[in-house]
Amino acid sequence: MSNNTQAFDEWLRTRFVEINSQLEAIYWQQEDKANVEFVGEQFKHQLEAEGNAHIRKLLAEGNTDEGFDRAFDLLGNVGLFMAACRRHEITEPSRETTSPLVEASALAMHIGASIGVTPRFATAHLTTHNKAINGLYKRFTDLPDEKLFIDYNTKGILAYKRAADALLKIQPLGISHPLCGDLLKVAKQALVDVIESNTALYNQLDTERFFFCVRPYYKPYRVGKEVYRGANAGDFAGINVIDMLLGLCFANEPSYSQMLVDKFLYMMPEDQQILRESMRMPSIMDDFLAAGDTRHSSWFKTNAKLFIQVCKLHGDTAIGHHNQLVSKFIAQPAQHMQQQHMNKVTASGPPLHVLLDSLEQLRDRRAAAKRDDIRTRYDDLAQLKQWVSN
Ligand code: HEM
Repeated sequence: MSNNTQAFDEWLRTRFVEINSQLEAIYWQQEDKANVEFVGEQFKHQLEAEGNAHIRKLLAEGNTDEGFDRAFDLLGNVGLFMAACRRHEITEPSRETTSPLVEASALAMHIGASIGVTPRFATAHLTTHNKAINGLYKRFTDLPDEKLFIDYNTKGILAYKRAADALLKIQPLGISHPLCGDLLKVAKQALVDVIESNTALYNQLDTERFFFCVRPYYKPYRVGKEVYRGANAGDFAGINVIDMLLGLCFANEPSYSQMLVDKFLYMMPEDQQILRESMRMPSIMDDFLAAGDTRHSSWFKTNAKLFIQVCKLHGDTAIGHHNQLVSKFIAQPAQHMQQQHMNKVTASGPPLHVLLDSLEQLRDRRAAAKRDDIRTRYDDLAQLKQWVSN
């Protein structure tokens, strides 16, 4: 790691966290906690000046080509700085046509384009690829609520990835292979882990702290002239690998494929590769349906039962995400928010009701709910359930 990279990383782990935490304390004391205008100006200036001083040196240093991991990590650090500037409204995408953080933008675009990801910080930077030093990983603030949120996001993502890995391993073996059942059991356990982790987050996270002091760091911001949407815990391939391999969602359905197209560059290149491959694979659901004439065999009954349980658990994770996490921590607090802040609520940018509607559709596809307006696997799963019950 170059000296400049190291110095910036140290600043991010210390001063950056101090300044953000001080600003959070100031905002929190206000009656309107969502207001950041004309408060804590001196801290905001410090943040901008100190961050820019580090970035100027890094930009001048040029591409030192220290490998993918280092480049990705540095992009994350620049991104955390830019996201904090956006949170404190040092920058504001609707106010500007190009980012006032000229040097940070240049550095982020240089790195992002060279490694094949968006030039902003992504979920992986804070979760699965966030190196801890002496037990402490990178964060925006020292608030326990932020740590809790990141810990459980990481736990959920890792568990989804375990489920996806197990399902991917079924593909070359086939549904009648003696080890297919073992892999389905691994997927089941991993999805139970997602549910438990999300339930713990639901029970422990403080709604107001999350809404006012954590979520704002995940807003969209401008890099150069483009606005890049906020990071969310879904920016990894595993969740969609599960959707498509189980056969609950379809890569050729416009709204689902739109979501995939939009998220590619927010994922690590290795995840982009996995997602591309899984978009071309047949689903396990279709394999079971096509093997209907062997439904009286013992392998079919055992494996199809496990498969149905995996589908049920995947649906339950989606129901929990939507009906618990999104509802308690986004939709409900947004109802009480002062109108002037409303257009800034979601991480991806669309109005809240549009976002909620699309998340609801995803939930119902994953849960194979009976719906007339969108395609779900309700009937196909009912068929499979009937076959294994005889
Ligand atoms: C996306 C809320 C935690 C998985 C989203 C979105 C919202 C949201 C609002 C839509 C994207 C956007 O805002 O632009 C929340 C809240 C959480 C939380 C309030 C907790 C306080 C988690 C956790 C996971 C997760 C722990 C587990 C890995 C996902 C996934 C997506 C997503 C996979 C992408 C859309 C999808 O495929 O369903 N989340 N989330 N979320 N979140 Fe969460």
